[in-house]
Amino acid sequence: MRRVITYGTYDLLHYGHIELLRRAREMGDYLIVALSTDEFNKLKNKKSYYDYEQRKMMLESIRYVDLVIPENDWEQKKTDVSKFEVDTFVMGHDWEGEFDFLKDQCEVVYVKRTEGISTTQIKKELYGRDAK
Ligand code: CTP
Repeated sequence: MRRVITYGTYDLLHYGHIELLRRAREMGDYLIVALSTDEFNKLKNKKSYYDYEQRKMMLESIRYVDLVIPENDWEQKKTDVSKFEVDTFVMGHDWEGEFDFLKDQCEVVYVKRTEGISTTQIKKELYGRDAK
C-alpha cells in the first residue's frame, strides 16, 4: 500500500483543494491530510473562517481523503513521514524546494496549483458585498 501525505489549512473548501486532493490520492492508495490547527494558523498569521473541527469534518467527507491528522508545528513532517510510513509527500508548487530535506525519507512531489482560485481570493472577492 502506497501512502501519500499533504499539508494545509483547507479553509473555505474550493475546487482547487479538491483537485489537489484528487491528484495526491492518485499517487497512492491512502491519503493523509495534515490539517493546520487554529493555533498553528495563528503562528502563521492566518485566521480561518471555519475552525479546525469544522475543516476536519469537511475533509473527512471527501472520498479522496483517508485520514486527517493535526498539523501543530513546522517540525513534525519528518516524524509524520516515518510514523505513518509515508511513500510520497505532496505539496503545491508554491512550496517548491522547501521540503527537499524529506527526500532521504520519501518521494517529494510539488504539483501545479489550479489557476484562478484560492481561499484568500474568495475572501477578497466577497469582502464588502451584501450577504444576500
Ligand atoms: N491548492 C491548489 N490550487 C489552488 C489552491 C490551493 O492546488 N488553487 C493546494 C495548495 O497548493 C495546498 C492545498 O491546496 O497544497 C491547501 O492549500 P491552502 O493554502 O489551504 O489553500 P489556498 O486556497 O491556497 O489558501 P490561501 O489563499 O489562504 O493560501
